Amino acid sequence: MLVLGIETSCDETSAAVVENRVWVRSNVVLTQTKLHEPFGGIVPEIASRKQMEFIAPVIQKALSDAKVSWRDLDAVAVTNRPGLIGSLLVGVSFAKAVALAHNLPIVPINHLEGHVFSVFLRDVKTEESQEWNFPFLCLLVSGGHTELIWVKDVGNYEVLGQTRDDAAGEAFDKVARALGLGFPGGPVIDKISENGDPNAIAFPRADLTPTLDFSFAGLKTAVVRYLKGMEERLKRKPNPTIADIAASFQEAVVDMLLSNLERAAELTDAERVAVVGGVAANRRLRQKLSELANRHKWQLALPPLKWCTDNAAMVACAASFRLEEGLTQTDDLLFDAYAVAEINDANISRR
Ligand code: KG4
Ligand code: ZN
Repeated sequence: MLVLGIETSCDETSAAVVENRVWVRSNVVLTQTKLHEPFGGIVPEIASRKQMEFIAPVIQKALSDAKVSWRDLDAVAVTNRPGLIGSLLVGVSFAKAVALAHNLPIVPINHLEGHVFSVFLRDVKTEESQEWNFPFLCLLVSGGHTELIWVKDVGNYEVLGQTRDDAAGEAFDKVARALGLGFPGGPVIDKISENGDPNAIAFPRADLTPTLDFSFAGLKTAVVRYLKGMEERLKRKPNPTIADIAASFQEAVVDMLLSNLERAAELTDAERVAVVGGVAANRRLRQKLSELANRHKWQLALPPLKWCTDNAAMVACAASFRLEEGLTQTDDLLFDAYAVAEINDANISRR
């Protein structure tokens, strides 16, 4: 089975060809980060206009990299929710057009479900097959979402906890801006923290026990307030460096993520744990997570960076699982795009 995936939910234009559910034959990602950098965040109108400009060549390149033609494909999968509506509409309209022109089944996919399925992806050229199965506990940490999901089976998800304010990646981005480190913040804070002391400043860790929810807004505000008192602090010794502040902030985020993950694993008796989404690239998170997994003897899936950040391979993969389970109607060209959606919304794409 060969599925073409299309992902345009934010500022990445991506297309991929995935074979037999998990084998990535090609995955083209064109990111607009540089265009949005001067504004310190994504500008929706620029994002959607650029999606329109890039979509056709990106899809053509995905097909040629995979050495397949339209005739070889079995289905088209496209992210139709959640995301920036203008960006989503470009991918959805394009997917409908090609499905119609080439008489292909079409599968609308929830972006969050796509991220969850990134654990299964394998590069056909460089990676071996791997043993991964349902059920598993998934921590999804990205610029837009922070969720703990108990993944029982394809299309069967229980959200155990989610953020009540900022997403983890959003907190990284906002704190980086406050520190004058630019956009996106995660990678810079990750890098600069290498030279900082994670215990230099005791930033607060929100604990929403007994729920498994997260909150990062208080931490972000604490960093901003700390910076306001910086002039005074610099007169005293020892004075904290930007690297110390970044490392201490990062440590607080990682601690909050892992403490809820540990409680969720206990609750579900999970043997398999996956961490996906852009923030999963964070090196301190990966390090502490590996230690935690060893301690609990979890089978841990930490997909490589290329599958963690937004990509179309994960969309094609989720669609392939759905197609194989017969979970999706594929002849509906009336489905819509939605800016807001939960992972448990199997029916939203249906009228
Ligand atoms: O999954 P993603 O590519 O896009 C969304 O769907 O949001 O995640 C992007 C987010 C950004 O907030 C970025 O700052 C964060 O992931 N990020 C990181 C790292 N690399 C990217 N956060 C912490 N450490 C990193 N190394
Ligand atoms: Zn994403």
